[in-house]
Amino acid sequence: MPVLGTRPASSMQIGPHHFSGRFFLAPLAGVSDRPFRTICREMGASFAYTEMVSAHGLLHGKAQTLAYLDRDPAEVPFAVQIFAAEPEALARGAEAAVQAGAGMVDINMACPVKKVCGTGAGAALARDPAAVGAAVAATVAAIPGIPVTIKIRAGWEEGAINCVEVARAAEGAGASAVALHGRTRAQGYSGKASWTLIRAVKEAVGIPVLGSGDVWTAADALRMRAETGCDAVLVARGACGNPWIFRELKAAERGEPIPPPPSREEWIEVVMRHVALQIEHRQRQRPHQAGDAQEEQAVRELRRHLLWYSRGRRGGVAFRRGGVHVKSAAEVRALIDLQFPPGVPWEFDAGWHPAQDAGGEGS
Ligand SMILES: Cc1cc2nc3c(=O)[nH]c(=O)nc-3n(C[C@H](O)[C@H](O)[C@H](O)COP(=O)(O)O)c2cc1C
Repeated sequence: MPVLGTRPASSMQIGPHHFSGRFFLAPLAGVSDRPFRTICREMGASFAYTEMVSAHGLLHGKAQTLAYLDRDPAEVPFAVQIFAAEPEALARGAEAAVQAGAGMVDINMACPVKKVCGTGAGAALARDPAAVGAAVAATVAAIPGIPVTIKIRAGWEEGAINCVEVARAAEGAGASAVALHGRTRAQGYSGKASWTLIRAVKEAVGIPVLGSGDVWTAADALRMRAETGCDAVLVARGACGNPWIFRELKAAERGEPIPPPPSREEWIEVVMRHVALQIEHRQRQRPHQAGDAQEEQAVRELRRHLLWYSRGRRGGVAFRRGGVHVKSAAEVRALIDLQFPPGVPWEFDAGWHPAQDAGGEGS
């Protein structure tokens, strides 16, 4: 096996898995499904997590839960993020994920949503480092040879910052990496993420640390690495509508000039590829549904992405208004041609920043 130190600085390792770069797509509920993971990986993301999947749902083989496990066979390692409160449920859910092809399992200890925290899962699980240790130990024991990672927040609230203790407990119990979103559960998605805490966790543990929070541009991601020393950066809201961020980061890792934002033609190609991938995704999930209904549903599922793709662009408001009514790939394309005709100025609106209207709801 190659020694880590002999590999180029841009590569890293989690458990047995080597990654050619250090910029990953974060787990994003309702967003990091197979189509979007494919788009981001094609753009240069070295790795992408699934959205969070209920360990209980995996155990009971619920159709909606299993749909989260749809993956491109080229997606290696396939990393499934699971959530539950009980070590036993996490262990059994991890086994089910591995049976479905997972080569890495992440435990969500970061979700702030009441419905999840109310059961003791998500961010609630990380309130107690001993519970974190028990959850990790049970999961590691259930899936020998498969790395188990955790994703945590800074702590529950301002007076209860415990990410360093939690990361140490996870490492002691056998976790292969820890991802930190530097906001507290109480902050949700508002305020600023603490990168100082990412550095503190990096200094406290020997396993790889993945940093998350307020990465809106490629420059932010590079700065997070430089300022915190984290091993990899999770790009979350900054990738929504802008998978090209990974193209920029890949170029930076290779020491090449940062490519410009996509031209109108490149943008259309990716948006339409995303539409096509979403339709295929739907077809695999509902093979017996009529073709028109599959396509309409897929385009409906994609509305959020269409909105994100059009942010900051002249014509974006009208595009979004029209996007509510589109029902097929052909209608998406027609709307693009109507609202973004050839020859329109293609630069972003003056003063626009991707953190604007980014949306804050998430898990
Ligand atoms: C819509 C949305 C969905 C999310 N879903 C998940 C999830 O399923 N699992 C998880 O660990 N974090 C989830 N997150 C948190 C992100 O992975 C990331 O840690 C957070 O957005 C901070 O990064 P940012 O400020 O750069 O967006 C979600 C965030 C958003 C906005």
